[in-house]
Amino acid sequence: MTKRIAIILAAGQGTRMKSPLPKVLHEVGGRSMLGWSVALAGDLGCERTIVVAGPCAEAVQAEAGRLVGPANVCVQAEQLGTANAVDAARGLVADEDGQAIVLYADTPLIPVEAGERAFAQLDAGASICVLGFDAAVPGKYGRLKRAADGSLEAIVEANDATKEELAITLCNSGVMAGPAKLMFELIAEVGNDNAKGEYYLTDLVKLARARGLKAAVAECDERDVLGVNSQAELAVAERVFQEQARAALMRDGVTMPAPETVFLSWDTRIGAGAVVEQNVVFATRVEVAGGARIRAFSHLEGCKVEAGAVVGPYARLRPGAQIGVDAHIGNFVEVKNTIVGEGAKANHLSYLGDGDVGAGANIGAGTIFCNYDGFFKYRTVIGEGAFIGSNSALVAPVRVGKRGYVGSGSVITVDVEGGSLSIGRGRQIDKPGWGDEFRKQQTALKESGKKPNGAI
Ligand code: UD1
Ligand code: CA
Repeated sequence: MTKRIAIILAAGQGTRMKSPLPKVLHEVGGRSMLGWSVALAGDLGCERTIVVAGPCAEAVQAEAGRLVGPANVCVQAEQLGTANAVDAARGLVADEDGQAIVLYADTPLIPVEAGERAFAQLDAGASICVLGFDAAVPGKYGRLKRAADGSLEAIVEANDATKEELAITLCNSGVMAGPAKLMFELIAEVGNDNAKGEYYLTDLVKLARARGLKAAVAECDERDVLGVNSQAELAVAERVFQEQARAALMRDGVTMPAPETVFLSWDTRIGAGAVVEQNVVFATRVEVAGGARIRAFSHLEGCKVEAGAVVGPYARLRPGAQIGVDAHIGNFVEVKNTIVGEGAKANHLSYLGDGDVGAGANIGAGTIFCNYDGFFKYRTVIGEGAFIGSNSALVAPVRVGKRGYVGSGSVITVDVEGGSLSIGRGRQIDKPGWGDEFRKQQTALKESGKKPNGAI
């Protein structure tokens, strides 16, 4: 295969987002839009991915460096247009053999097949190919003018278009592919004599044709190339992502009675035969095995749920939670950085943080792993088959041995031996008749109009 290089434009200001966060760092499905573009470049098999960032956007430069390596990040000194932005990568790419693809970092949901279609046109003889779509509302998009033979004659930016050209609905997604050397040769010829006074990458089409070269359009669906310029458009992209991700899971055998209420991340993995009930949120890094059930109103992040496990309703799994086969995590239970063994249960109102719960252990309602002393964190280790009575506080570091019991209401600060019972609470005192006597005394006082000392 011909070597491929991606050039991702991320230097725009994104002023319409009206946010201190640079536009391309806004997330869709829990991944930055820049991250989506870099991932697409990877899926297209690009050997090299260059990100063009703005001079003042340190956060973009840093994220780009993390994603593609600092040596592949270049800075466009001034925002003089899309051709000028690509030109910023000249020193890194211009001498490369192979095909380049330009992606905009504000267009996060391009399927790999659409990119492949653009490359396929190059293989079929085109020198420049752009990805186009039929726009419901063409608005500010560049219009794609076809020649009589169906090839691409020119791209006309909306601001420079005639009335007839504005009526064209076939629009430019911004994705453009061509041989790297040719693209940089043509970019050197681009001028800025247009309505915006910018160097337009779209001019490459007419410059290529002036050399007798062929330009082509590869078509895709409008949903595939949604550009994000505002918070409202970001929400549209998020909605489209969610719809696609839910549909993909259901296609793969996940049961979701109300998919429109389930929120997924780009990396959510759920196995066939798992059930996800209503209003469940999957933040990033979640893996759920087939046969598990995630009940309504649960929130999961950075965790793993094994087959047969039941989580929720109203459970919270935080990073590092690992819920074993057939384990149960019930309502208002929070689990963080804790391995819950096979068949173990914590069904009500608990906090399991920085712990290990052995197979078959039962964690009573209201149990708290006290994992933090304000400075450091410590582990709580519960042995297999142990039973923790309700409303117990286990002050870590602490261990409960296999099949050990903790009496309810205990504050456990010392390890519990396997097979034994530990109770750490005040002893019960019984005072027969005390309640009746007290009631009689207070009634008399109240009727007399007096108050006990200190009463208000
Ligand atoms: C561009 C296309 C238009 C297409 C539309 C699709 C041009 C001239 N026009 O218009 O045909 O329909 O995208 O969304 O290419 N950028 C830089 N540096 C710059 C200018 C832009 O890095 O100097 C980046 C932006 O961050 C953005 C992308 O390039 O990621 C597109 O720029 P934008 O100004 O949004 O182009 P449009 O006017 O939308
Ligand atoms: Ca744009």
